Amino acid sequence: MSKSFWRERADAGPIVALAPMDGYTDSAYRQVVKSVAPHVIVFSEFYSADGLVHSPILARTVLPHDLSEKPVIFQIFGKDPEKFAEAARIIEWYGAAGIDVNMGCPAKKVVKSGHGSGLMINRDTAYACVEAMARAVSLPISVKTRLGWEDHSNLIDFCRGLVDAGADMLTIHGRTYQQKFTGLADWTGTYELADMVSVPVIGNGDVMGYDDGMAKKKNLAGFMIGRASFGNPWCFLPGGYRPTLGETVDVMERHATLLIATKWRKGCLEIRKHLVQYLHALPGARGYRKSLVSVESLDDVLAVLGTIRSDFAGELDKPTPNANENLMDAWKGYEG
Ligand SMILES: Cc1cc2nc3c(=O)[nH]c(=O)nc-3n(C[C@H](O)[C@H](O)[C@H](O)COP(=O)(O)O)c2cc1C
Repeated sequence: MSKSFWRERADAGPIVALAPMDGYTDSAYRQVVKSVAPHVIVFSEFYSADGLVHSPILARTVLPHDLSEKPVIFQIFGKDPEKFAEAARIIEWYGAAGIDVNMGCPAKKVVKSGHGSGLMINRDTAYACVEAMARAVSLPISVKTRLGWEDHSNLIDFCRGLVDAGADMLTIHGRTYQQKFTGLADWTGTYELADMVSVPVIGNGDVMGYDDGMAKKKNLAGFMIGRASFGNPWCFLPGGYRPTLGETVDVMERHATLLIATKWRKGCLEIRKHLVQYLHALPGARGYRKSLVSVESLDDVLAVLGTIRSDFAGELDKPTPNANENLMDAWKGYEG
């Protein structure tokens, strides 16, 4: 992809993006989202730039992706411009559409190492990292960050520096570093920013679905959804679309098949949390959830899904209840 990718996408209509989420947005998750909502631009989980440079095994494990995911953006974290540049070359080689830099993760161990949100207070390093990558590859470079360290008074200055360094798009999660995962996202600073920089700006934080994102978008180029997509890839569709129970079970089967095919044993363990989320709000689903959290193989998953299909044989064409009200629980695991 060329450096004008984000500008062209913004000019073509609102950008709807799947947020990078560690432990979630792997290839299988991204394929599931794209199969339901092909217009979404998907972001990977964050990966260590140093890790990608020093471990060809890591690169070979996480960077290959399916054609159906394209255009896919890989997110990386780190603090060494040379490592960022080298990691960017590797990501480009694997056919990504763009590279996103994490400058927003507030997890203690990440910030302590000067990564993630730590770059918001080490601006020269942040700019050097973007500049090194922008020079190293012909892919567009974007940055995902927060409003600021304790308030949004430096957001515009910081982001102007990122754009001067070569950032082609910015995503702002409407919380500060100090807020971590508390309170409500505030998009005001992001709206102000969008009028002050020359690149597309995407808003993020507490979007419940497509319609909510469109209402919040205002002067922005688009919006990004994270937690609301757990067990609910349909959140990216307009009109508050709810899948039937039959569709939900079919997508659960697809998700399990893809995840286990790509990660084997690890996939069997990881699929448990996803499957439970699809059925979060289904009345009487406790028994199925109990079986799903202990699946050991794809056969185990298919057996539970088969039971659901036969138990609900007359109701598979009814809408699946929405699980969005459990949003705030979803930070667990990323809080560090
Ligand atoms: C489990 C989990 C993992 C996350 N991992 C990342 C990550 O790897 N990179 C990143 O920039 N943000 C990460 N985030 C933050 C999300 O991308 C997003 O900014 C945040 O969840 C707010 O959006 P939402 O309200 O739509 O969920 C993560 C969030 C969650 C819940």
